[in-house]
Amino acid sequence: MRGVLVAGGTGALGAGVLRALLEAGYPVTTSWLVEKERDRVESEFAGADGLSLVEADLMEPAGAEAAVEATPDLGAVVNLVGGFAAGPLAHETDIEECERMLRLNLRPGFLLARAAIPRMLEAGGGAYVGVSARPALQPFPGAVAYVTAKGAVLAFVNALDADYRAQGIRCNAILPSVIDTPANRAATPNVDFSKWVPPDEIGRVVRFLVSDESAPTSGAGIPVYGRA
Ligand SMILES: NC(=O)c1ccc[n+]([C@@H]2O[C@H](COP(=O)([O-])OP(=O)(O)OC[C@H]3O[C@@H](n4cnc5c(N)ncnc54)[C@H](OP(=O)(O)O)[C@@H]3O)[C@@H](O)[C@H]2O)c1
Repeated sequence: MRGVLVAGGTGALGAGVLRALLEAGYPVTTSWLVEKERDRVESEFAGADGLSLVEADLMEPAGAEAAVEATPDLGAVVNLVGGFAAGPLAHETDIEECERMLRLNLRPGFLLARAAIPRMLEAGGGAYVGVSARPALQPFPGAVAYVTAKGAVLAFVNALDADYRAQGIRCNAILPSVIDTPANRAATPNVDFSKWVPPDEIGRVVRFLVSDESAPTSGAGIPVYGRA
């Protein structure tokens, strides 16, 4: 099995993605930015074979290159780095907030693709998985910056697919609705959490997109909505 770089694997969805990949025996490299989060992942996955961690600020080209360099026999990149913001309507939203959402959701994925794709081309192919979100297709009020950024992620992954599908690099996106994370539970405590999607379930979908089992699938935006 070739190596998988999971960018943002120290986050809430990251735990599910790391678990699914490690259970199947993939060698996984994941990036970290905050020491506390690195320590938490090291202790959560203590004893698991095949996990290594690399410090990398993925907003910077050098960080993306370092993360790619640290992944032996790179076969796939899974980019989980991104973020959410909501509240104001479009006419109340600062352009700076819109640009912050675009940068956080797009820049790491773009830099990682630029760094990783030459190595995948040399190896004869690979897989790239990005994270868009359901509101990219079904917006809700008060999230113009987020919706625009996640729509751009979907377009970016489709553009990568157009550029590299013929050379054997498969590029797909997942579209979560609401993930069952501690942060989401804290933010909205009075809703039915069973309608949200556990990170482990999404992790297995990501693993499928990384694996040869999904060989004919490229340029897809895959809903992972659970029961919502
Ligand atoms: N949570 C949801 O309900 C939901 C719904 C739809 C889509 N999504 C998308 O799913 C993805 C993962 O979400 P999540 O809830 O797991 O988010 P999260 O818990 O906030 O995790 C984000 C991850 O990105 C990393 N990160 C942030 N800035 C970075 C940088 N400059 N360089 C390197 N790493 C950086 C964080 O590292 P540290 O831990 O070291 O800070 C963390 O590992 C995101 O793209 C998000 O937009 C989430």
